[in-house]
Amino acid sequence: MSNICKQFSEMIPKKVALFGDSIQRFDAPTHKESTCSIRDREFLLGRYCASKALELMGRDDGVVGQNQDGSPLWPNGTIGSITHSKGFAVAVAASSKDYQSLGIDLEQMNRLKPASIARIAHESEQKSIKDDVSRGTVLFALKESFYKAQFPIYKKKLNFKDVAFSIDFNRCEAQVQWTSSKLNVPKSVYNDWKVTFKLVENYVFVFCLFENA
Ligand SMILES: CC(C)(COP(=O)(O)OP(=O)(O)OC[C@H]1O[C@@H](n2cnc3c(N)ncnc32)[C@H](O)[C@@H]1OP(=O)(O)O)[C@@H](O)C(=O)NCCC(=O)NCCS
Repeated sequence: MSNICKQFSEMIPKKVALFGDSIQRFDAPTHKESTCSIRDREFLLGRYCASKALELMGRDDGVVGQNQDGSPLWPNGTIGSITHSKGFAVAVAASSKDYQSLGIDLEQMNRLKPASIARIAHESEQKSIKDDVSRGTVLFALKESFYKAQFPIYKKKLNFKDVAFSIDFNRCEAQVQWTSSKLNVPKSVYNDWKVTFKLVENYVFVFCLFENA
């Protein structure tokens, strides 16, 4: 995991702290099977990674709570995002002075069913995705990371077809092309949203950043 995280760290700005870890390493100190469910352990692992990311940015009051809507509650003056995937968790954190919001998503590349692509892809995205499951997985992760970045600002429960991206699969970048009226923002703000992704081993990691307006 440390090699994977090193590669994720290379794609994010220096002012953003990233920390990731695996359930196996997290459970290791007790040397016994935890009685908690995998979901509970992933939750704890995500919170541990979030605290570590805050520590990396010099905050020693790094407890990340949970809002009633399920979104993470970051300490005053900080923003961040958490993702888990099959026993791994990654968290990013930054100062709210530097950025408006962050969203990340980590997905395994071989888990999306071809039939799910139609559910995820907006009409304008279908031409570039077709029935390519790898591209569909990237699109899925782009939308999940975008969802997490927009939520603290707009508080919108968006569906997959409320946002459409144009994706440059060579440069590993995406740009929001369209949002539904649910988000109700002028097109000029789309340029403040930076979305990049990286494929490492069998994972795609997406980093979504909302610049300060
Ligand atoms: C919330 C959601 C984005 C989480 O994504 P996921 O791929 O299922 O799971 P991940 O492991 O990557 O992320 C889970 C973490 O997201 C964070 N999260 C949950 N709700 C959130 C919200 N409203 N805003 C920001 N972050 C949120 C939490 O930190 C959570 O981990 P925790 O419960 O341990 O704290 C997803 O479950 C969801 O509800 N998506 C809406 C569906 C959709 O239409 N998405 C795309 C629209 S653009």
